[in-house]
Amino acid sequence: MFKFHARTLPAGALAAAALSLAFTGPARAVEVSFAAGVVGSFFEDFAAVVKPWEEKTGNTVKLVPMPASTSDQFAQYRLWLAAGNSDIDLYMTDVIWAPQLAEQFVDLRESAGAALDAHFPSVIESQTADGRLVALPLYTDAPALYYRKDLLEKYGAKVPETWQELTETAQLIQDGERAEGKSDFWGFVWQGNAYEGLTCDALEWIKSFGGGQIVEPDGTISVNNEKAVEAIDLAASWVGTISPPGVIAYQEEEARGVWQTGNAAFMRNWPYAYALGSAEDSPIKGLFDTAPLPRGGEDGSSAATLGGWNVAVSKYSEHQDEAISLALYLSSAEAQKTLALRAGNLPTVISLYDDPDIAAKYPIIPAWKDVFMHAVPRPSAPTKKKYNEVSAKFWSAVHDTLGGNGTAAENLELLELDLDDLKGSAW
Ligand code: GLC
Repeated sequence: MFKFHARTLPAGALAAAALSLAFTGPARAVEVSFAAGVVGSFFEDFAAVVKPWEEKTGNTVKLVPMPASTSDQFAQYRLWLAAGNSDIDLYMTDVIWAPQLAEQFVDLRESAGAALDAHFPSVIESQTADGRLVALPLYTDAPALYYRKDLLEKYGAKVPETWQELTETAQLIQDGERAEGKSDFWGFVWQGNAYEGLTCDALEWIKSFGGGQIVEPDGTISVNNEKAVEAIDLAASWVGTISPPGVIAYQEEEARGVWQTGNAAFMRNWPYAYALGSAEDSPIKGLFDTAPLPRGGEDGSSAATLGGWNVAVSKYSEHQDEAISLALYLSSAEAQKTLALRAGNLPTVISLYDDPDIAAKYPIIPAWKDVFMHAVPRPSAPTKKKYNEVSAKFWSAVHDTLGGNGTAAENLELLELDLDDLKGSAW
């Protein structure tokens, strides 16, 4: 039985569970707590995903819902873990966190054993810090350009291949729709809030213009360059023109809110928005499709930031065996398939990309295998324990520029100085 943040099981249920497990399961049913950010329909989807594990083991899972922002989750988890909190048994962890939280999590390599071979090796690698496997993958993430097929047709436009084309097409459609009385209609929505999501969006702009990856895999700070300036300046020009002024406070769900009510021509978002946008009650069901994000000009290349979520077991858990068993289950093909079919999340189990049920329901999943495999990692590996600070400085410099507080050239120059200080002699 899945429970929402309730503290205790009703006594009757406990007794019944204990009785039914007398012959098959553990001596004593345990409730494990799982802390996770709640975005989209994750709450209901998670309940469905864990059900078979609950039924099989007799244990129950309590979801401890956290804010949607990965940056807010990170701040909270860091405090809890530093305090040795034993109330949370498992954490859902962002792909970028492994090196920073590694010491607080149980090494899962031995428990997972040969099961790891089913996953993309790069994902397992991303969750390995100093040889320890600190989390098992739940799903991977790579963003898409969402576009309205009907509106492109209406205005005789094609799917934009460069950010410059996107700027023009978004303006064309926005002008046309406004002229027809849709005063809330916008050309392009994305994630402009000062948080990790903006790091993802802005890395894509910069990389697609040929301006590098903020900090390169060898640790070099590369962000202060002309291509990066051009990319951020273009994005700043969208605020208040093709994108609402409020976009600089948007996270994923705010962007999806505008898009899914039919009030935007384009959106940058992760695959979960595909499932929700094509649900029965969605006003844009059947009207949209996805494409890789645009290139930064004719010489640029499409860049998608690598995202994804994993499951880590706390070193301070008092139910480590059960927590490890749940982590193993959540990373299995069975659980990942349920999640893919419900939430549209990209599996990390390779064989699921050939699964006919998944392909039939969400064609974006097999289509996005290639986007995921070429996705650009954020510099969490080279900057190690300092990644969160690097990212916060980066998103602040970009956010300042988007808000008209300094130019991209000024803000990236200051950022470089700041990052040099933070790096010191080595990351
Ligand atoms: C998605 C990605 C995650 C990223 C976050 C930023 O959830 O999977 O990796 O950090 O978006 O908002």
